[in-house]
Amino acid sequence: MRKKIIAGNWKMNKALADGQSLALEVINLAIEEVPQDTQLVLCAPAIHLASLDDLLKSTAHVHLGAQNMSEHASGAFTGDISAEMLKSVGVQFVILGHSERREYHHESNELLSKKVKFALQNNLTPIFCCGESLATREANQHIEFVNKQIKDSLGDLNKDELQKVVIAYEPIWAIGTGKTASAAQAQEMHKSIRDFLATQFNQATADSISILYGGSMKPTNAKELLAQPDVDGGLIGGASLVARDFIAIALSF
Ligand code: PGA
Repeated sequence: MRKKIIAGNWKMNKALADGQSLALEVINLAIEEVPQDTQLVLCAPAIHLASLDDLLKSTAHVHLGAQNMSEHASGAFTGDISAEMLKSVGVQFVILGHSERREYHHESNELLSKKVKFALQNNLTPIFCCGESLATREANQHIEFVNKQIKDSLGDLNKDELQKVVIAYEPIWAIGTGKTASAAQAQEMHKSIRDFLATQFNQATADSISILYGGSMKPTNAKELLAQPDVDGGLIGGASLVARDFIAIALSF
């Protein structure tokens, strides 16, 4: 049985008090309504993390996530945040390779390979993001493109390490645009990712990996996407900023 995961990516939104109220609202709704077998992850801005840890301790199925992490252990890296620091405030998950970081901070597959390994060494669960641009999809190169992202960043993990990774397929053209991939497009890619992992590792390992869909997922389209056999959850941007919407997505399995 693969884990069902709904992760909220708050991106660069919410000052501290607003973030705390949002988290509190999500926790209260989660305790009342969300089944224990659905894991929720709140990937808040770094400045919120320390203060959210205590709030999240009241529930076993809402976890704390970061949006990025340095590939270095410590030292002269102004502005960066290390795995050890994230661990020290109770973080369990870390988004790595979001397309916004790939684009605006030039994060390459090779750099992300280092970050993924480093996260795993520090017992953080990477939510590894992959996904193609509209031009790549229109050129019908999307499958090869995503396979290469996965091979270059996850290819030299061993099976035990890979099993600890969560993958998020996020077509860039669907992020924040209101244009969701159709359920069929999402399923095609998720199945292709799983088949590719089976060729690189083995079927049992591929079958154990949770693959989340991200890109304009909302309460109105979540049910259809989450009903696909290879879609194991969602990475939610905009809709994670409204507690009711985020929970409605978590109730759409
Ligand atoms: P969106 O963002 O839900 O606002 O499209 C998803 C993401 O970027 O993770």
